[in-house]
Amino acid sequence: MVAGIPLSFPVLLAYAAIAGAWSTFVVPHTEDADDTPALMAAISDYTSDASIVFEANTTYNVWSPLTFPLLTNVEVVISGNLTYPTSIETVQGYVAAANYSGAWFSFTRGNNVTLRGNTDPDWGWVDGHGQQWWDLMQQTNRPQGWLFKDVTNVIIRDMKLYKPIAWNFATTGSSNMHFFNNIILAGSDNASFPFNTDGFSAGGTNMLFENNHVVNGDDCLTVVSGAKNITWRNGYCEGSHGLSVGSLGEGGQVASVENVLCENTIMNRTLYAARFKSWTGGNGAAINITWKDITFIDVMFPIDVTQNYWDQEDGPPPSSSSVNETHIENFLFDHFVGVINDTPGYVEGSCVTDPCWYYVPGATGKEAVIFDLYPDTATNIVVKNLVARTLSGAPVAAMCNSSTISNDVGFVCWNGPYVPTPG
Ligand SMILES: *[C@@H]1O[C@H](CO)[C@@H](O)[C@H](O)[C@H]1NC(C)=O
Ligand SMILES: *[C@@H]1O[C@H](CO)[C@@H](O)[C@H](O)[C@H]1NC(C)=O
Ligand SMILES: *[C@@H]1O[C@H](CO)[C@@H](O)[C@H](O)[C@H]1NC(C)=O
Ligand SMILES: *[C@@H]1O[C@H](CO)[C@@H](O)[C@H](O)[C@H]1NC(C)=O
Ligand SMILES: *[C@@H]1O[C@H](CO)[C@@H](O)[C@H](O)[C@H]1NC(C)=O
Ligand SMILES: *[C@@H]1O[C@H](CO)[C@@H](O)[C@H](O)[C@H]1NC(C)=O
Ligand SMILES: *[C@@H]1O[C@H](CO)[C@@H](O)[C@H](O)[C@H]1NC(C)=O
Ligand SMILES: *[C@@H]1O[C@H](CO)[C@@H](O)[C@H](O)[C@H]1NC(C)=O
Ligand SMILES: *[C@@H]1O[C@H](CO)[C@@H](O)[C@H](O)[C@H]1NC(C)=O
Ligand SMILES: *[C@@H]1O[C@H](CO)[C@@H](O)[C@H](O)[C@H]1NC(C)=O
Repeated sequence: MVAGIPLSFPVLLAYAAIAGAWSTFVVPHTEDADDTPALMAAISDYTSDASIVFEANTTYNVWSPLTFPLLTNVEVVISGNLTYPTSIETVQGYVAAANYSGAWFSFTRGNNVTLRGNTDPDWGWVDGHGQQWWDLMQQTNRPQGWLFKDVTNVIIRDMKLYKPIAWNFATTGSSNMHFFNNIILAGSDNASFPFNTDGFSAGGTNMLFENNHVVNGDDCLTVVSGAKNITWRNGYCEGSHGLSVGSLGEGGQVASVENVLCENTIMNRTLYAARFKSWTGGNGAAINITWKDITFIDVMFPIDVTQNYWDQEDGPPPSSSSVNETHIENFLFDHFVGVINDTPGYVEGSCVTDPCWYYVPGATGKEAVIFDLYPDTATNIVVKNLVARTLSGAPVAAMCNSSTISNDVGFVCWNGPYVPTPG
């Protein structure tokens, strides 16, 4: 509009109609060819007020990464199936390329973006063909699945991911995200382990995760530094490494995590249920984190908090002379009910070294809670309403060093039987 020249009413109406126009782009499909280039070629016409539709009854070949430009008021609808390349080398080539965006599907900046799958059992799946990667223990140049980087106002619903190669949803720097009714199936057909198939990584602010169903081989949810106001509820996690916060403070980094609530979730045959991890020598703090109403079924470590994390397969713990640790404050574990897997000789599938990366010196395998803390850095860490038994029937234990805590943690802080206290 040219300043100073008042527009007539009809002209204004016409202008509003154009500005309000919604367009729909049905992504074309060509048999036996990569469907990414055609979408990328057309997308500049559909970056605002548009629907981008992968139509039903079609299997799209996403044989090269889909790097979305900045989108405003756009929904991406996955009604058909999407398939990654079946060639491992092809995927690796794109991941290794200098212009790789950081994920097979990436969204950067933008506002009001919806990614919507469906509930049809036959269509709407994104197939990563991960099994062959797991069978070969192929871990070179694996792609992240979906990256939302610095995007505001995002809805991700009804997505269905089948055998992803590795990590699934990442959210670095994004805000106001609502993830619901998503399914991630990263279970292996045999003993080959689906390494690093993390479900959701919360790396931004104001995120709500509801009714997500995850079967995988790493964290179900991982809350990373920079996260604030994260709620996860009504979930199901199977085979995973838990509802995790961390790891924080690697190499002395300054971490910040605040206001996290994980509630009403079933943890089925997972390694951990609730987990916090920070590296020795970290800085910063994790404050106000609650896990509540957690049902755990045959879980090895229902509650595990460590300020002393390291990859044990890389050798002995780093000898840190640092006086600093990532501080933890106001952690609550409330109403955990379930069964600890203390089957003698049981080894979780991600354990491929001796000792296992998750080995805890001195643990008996019957611990409902392990607190591995540094003195003067943990404030108000409490467990309450925990009801656990072991598969073997042996008494439930705890691991805790009383010289590292400053409050009644809700159970007798020792390496011994689990005995509740007023908390
Ligand atoms: C998909 O195929 C089914 C079965 O052939 C048909 O009933 C349905 O209408 C098709 N849907 C679309 C959107 O083409
Ligand atoms: C956000 O995008 C949706 C489509 O996904 C659209 O229906 C809605 O009007 C948009 N919101 C605003 C405020 O423009
Ligand atoms: C990356 O580079 C390749 C080769 O130059 C090119 O074909 C492709 O379009 C580029 N991808 C992006 C997302 O820029
Ligand atoms: C869609 O993909 C899923 C997962 O790979 C598969 O089980 C399903 O059979 C596919 N649908 C069709 C119609 O091929
Ligand atoms: C899983 O099956 C694949 C294909 O049959 C095979 O190559 C692989 O060795 C199997 N993995 C294990 C651990 O048995
Ligand atoms: C926290 O996030 C939720 C979900 O995105 C949002 O509705 C709520 O307003 C946020 N709370 C604060 C205090 O920002
Ligand atoms: C320890 O913390 C202090 C105060 O925050 C900071 O100045 C110092 O750089 C930290 N030291 C290391 C090794 O991270
Ligand atoms: C702690 O976090 C919860 C849930 O995210 C939030 O509702 C509450 O306001 C936070 N408390 C404080 C003191 O910030
Ligand atoms: C737990 O997982 C097993 C398969 O590993 C399944 O058979 C069982 O039904 C699951 N339990 C629940 C409560 O979902
Ligand atoms: C308990 O913690 C203190 C302080 O870090 C440490 O000196 C001591 O060795 C720990 N005791 C055990 C049994 O780990």
